[in-house]
Amino acid sequence: MARITTPLCLLLFLLFIHNSFQQPLSNVDLGALQTIKNSLTDLPGSDFFSTWDFSSTDPCNTFSGIICSLDDNVTPPLLRIDTLTLGTGLADSPGLTGSLTPSLSNLDALTQLILYSGIASGPIPSELGNLKNLRVISLTNNRLSGPIPTTLATLPNLHTLDLSGNQLSGSIPAGLAGLTELRVLILASNSLSGELPDVTTQLLHLDLKQNNFSGRLPSLPSSLRYFSVSQNQMWGPLDALDPLSELVYLDLSMNQFNGSIPESLFHYRLSSMLLQRNNLSGGIPRAVSVDVTSYGEGSVVDLSHNFLSGELSSVLAGVESVFLNNNHLMGIVPEDYARSVYEGNMKTLYLQHNFFSGFPLDSGLSLPDSVSLCLSYNCMVPPVGLTACPASAGDQLWRPAYQCSVYNNGTTVEGEP
Ligand SMILES: *[C@@H]1O[C@H](CO)[C@@H](O)[C@H](O)[C@H]1NC(C)=O
Ligand SMILES: *[C@@H]1O[C@H](CO)[C@@H](O)[C@H](O)[C@H]1NC(C)=O
Ligand SMILES: *[C@@H]1O[C@H](CO)[C@@H](O)[C@H](O)[C@H]1NC(C)=O
Ligand SMILES: *[C@@H]1O[C@H](CO)[C@@H](O)[C@H](O)[C@H]1NC(C)=O
Repeated sequence: MARITTPLCLLLFLLFIHNSFQQPLSNVDLGALQTIKNSLTDLPGSDFFSTWDFSSTDPCNTFSGIICSLDDNVTPPLLRIDTLTLGTGLADSPGLTGSLTPSLSNLDALTQLILYSGIASGPIPSELGNLKNLRVISLTNNRLSGPIPTTLATLPNLHTLDLSGNQLSGSIPAGLAGLTELRVLILASNSLSGELPDVTTQLLHLDLKQNNFSGRLPSLPSSLRYFSVSQNQMWGPLDALDPLSELVYLDLSMNQFNGSIPESLFHYRLSSMLLQRNNLSGGIPRAVSVDVTSYGEGSVVDLSHNFLSGELSSVLAGVESVFLNNNHLMGIVPEDYARSVYEGNMKTLYLQHNFFSGFPLDSGLSLPDSVSLCLSYNCMVPPVGLTACPASAGDQLWRPAYQCSVYNNGTTVEGEP
């Protein structure tokens, strides 16, 4: 009997100790939570604040969206809020409405502040700059407006700042792109403008797409793996990309960048290189090695709608989807592309609206069904049954002969009628 009850008693006793020594949540934090609850509300269909019952003796374990940690630098030790996640984040939840209260800055042990998609509006409180322990701020897909507070550029531990999908305006605060700990900066889909500051920290991920940034590329750190400024008003040369040897994803599409594409970008073998719809000119560099290097599954290179000229080298023959349409490329397409397409390694090859004079055909082989190859509006008659063009290619199968003689300087225009 004793053998059973002793451990049981001990267990009950330990549970009792645990509960009676349960640390209280700091009153400062409790007060801030109260103000937060008064300034944000669930939209109909969202069920986030239902657990926030202020008569609870143990908010840390009963309130959704908070994680507490023990601060034993004070006597008696207190529980402080370490992570605050506002909203359920469930895909079918409409999220929260209201605004972000400056009282958030009372949660001064906070390391992570997250607000899920909803329609919260008003400014980002500049008081967040008092939260020196913050590592992650993610306030995405709401209707936050006004500038990015300059105080955020004083957060010494900030690692991730994601403010994408709001209505923020103004420019990137000075100093933000120099915060030593910052690795991820996502400001996409806002109304931000001005020129980009030089990035002097070891950023890994920089996403500024769909804003109104202007001017030239700033200097960028060689640590960068993801970089997008797609759909802005930027222009100038791409030289700043030259040192980015870690780059995996590059999207500069829909700007007015001009000059030539740095040769190094073709050597880094990015899984996505999206430079379409700019003013880029010059040629496509020759391949470095004789072998066609595979860029891997899902790789995309889109250089369409530029002013690229000269002959096409084999340098892109190992990419899965290649868009070179609407340029001034000429000559005969290298055999490596044809082989890649026939073998099904290259799934898309858009070459329409150039000045190509031939595509090497292997009559013994048939094109896999999965492949999209478009050759129309070049200086050759596209082989029958070999084109799978998008509607935007138009229905003219070849370019008028007079245009071809200008670009190909009267050299043989294969298949020209
Ligand atoms: C974008 O910025 C330019 C100035 O660089 C300004 O003229 C234009 O109105 C802005 N567009 C939008 C949509 O804010
Ligand atoms: C790029 O565009 C600017 C502004 O139109 C122009 O001054 C510059 O010469 C262009 N550079 C190149 C290489 O075309
Ligand atoms: C880009 O090309 C367009 C059309 O040719 C031209 O209007 C525009 O000024 C060019 N932009 C730059 C920055 O050179
Ligand atoms: C075109 O070719 C002829 C000779 O075939 C050469 O004399 C002429 O310089 C070329 N023109 C251009 C613009 O390349």
